[in-house]
Amino acid sequence: MPTASPNTGLDLDFVRAQFPPFSDPETRDWAHMENAGGSYVPVQVIERLETFYRRYKVQPYADFLPSAKGGEMMDEAKAAMAALCNAEPDEMILGPSTTQNTYVVSNALRGWLKAGDEVIVTNQDHEANIGAWRRLAEIGCVIKEWQVDPETAELDPADLDGLITERTKLVAVTHCGNVVGSLNDLPTIAEKVHAVGALFMADGVAAAPHLLPDVKAMGVDMYAFSLYKTYGPHLGFFYVKRDHHDKLVNQSHYFKAGHGLAQIDVAGPNHAEVGAAAGVVHYYDTLHRHHFGDEEADLRTRAGKVFDLFARQEESLTAPVIDFLKDRPGVRLFGRKTADRSLRAPTITFAHRDRKSADIVQAMLEWRIGIRHGDFYALRCIEALGLYPEDGVVRISLLHYNTSEEVERLLIGLDRAL
Ligand SMILES: Cc1ncc(COP(=O)(O)O)c(C=O)c1O
Repeated sequence: MPTASPNTGLDLDFVRAQFPPFSDPETRDWAHMENAGGSYVPVQVIERLETFYRRYKVQPYADFLPSAKGGEMMDEAKAAMAALCNAEPDEMILGPSTTQNTYVVSNALRGWLKAGDEVIVTNQDHEANIGAWRRLAEIGCVIKEWQVDPETAELDPADLDGLITERTKLVAVTHCGNVVGSLNDLPTIAEKVHAVGALFMADGVAAAPHLLPDVKAMGVDMYAFSLYKTYGPHLGFFYVKRDHHDKLVNQSHYFKAGHGLAQIDVAGPNHAEVGAAAGVVHYYDTLHRHHFGDEEADLRTRAGKVFDLFARQEESLTAPVIDFLKDRPGVRLFGRKTADRSLRAPTITFAHRDRKSADIVQAMLEWRIGIRHGDFYALRCIEALGLYPEDGVVRISLLHYNTSEEVERLLIGLDRAL
């Protein structure tokens, strides 16, 4: 049975009571450690989705009651998600996915870019934040690659200095590697990018489940993350700073031209899921009320305190896994060998000299540990590390709702398997 973590201050029994799979007889015995692929969803989100479907599942924003209420739920969610990330509501969309949002924005920026402009991407990122930008070569942009260290998969900020020039127009970097778990120092990168007047795009998908994004403090011009990894429905949050809206060429119906981010919100939004997205913020608020009482007026202050609890819990879960793997004979552990929340997310990957990643993952099933292996769509990173992409790395990705008992079980299983 899960126990509260006295050292971290997070009431884990209370946390886990918010997520149905932890009490459902079919799923409760499984330790879900593939959270970087997708997190479980709390009751706050499920209930809103159900309310939308039960009562308001009509075209929203008309005056009759079910339609008006559906629209209100969507507006509440957009306002809450914007406030959570310190953006204005007209600076973000809740689109279908990060991959699709990024692809649409990269097309929308084609009119602003010209042949000879330089675009910098990394080979640490998930392909969502590489491929769309690399295709700007089709209009004559020069693509440069900021490459990881082939041993550690880390990006060295000094290497960026050698790539940025007066012709650089866009730099796209991941906030956190979805394979290596390392956090990149966005404000420092933003300074370098802005010094030459370029745009800075950061992919926050692997970071946002673990830290509270602040689009202003990070210095980003564009920022993306996927709500289905931050306890929400399958949607993608995409931020574009208002200063840059006039750089976008309309990708939607002709009459959306000049209407800010409506120009990149091409798909009719998934109304019910957008409406349900406020449940993510309600989840954070439920935890805040339980742990701290109700006194904080400001949403970001409340959520910030909850994320501090998450980080302490996640550090306490990560430390024993890193300690176990870092000196294990035959194991090549990627990313930083620390649990420090300022340096890494609790996304831990490794490969073994003699054992296939696929076999290690398979062996964990006996222990009811849900993990995965492969390239995780960060194929260029896996190749840079000299690994076979089909087998790739073993990834263990934890969240605050994992327990120390689950980690103990993981380590016993790994001990036998390696
Ligand atoms: C770091 C990172 N970026 C982008 C994506 C793509 O997100 P989506 O599935 O919303 O397109 C993922 C998905 O795993 C990811 O881990």
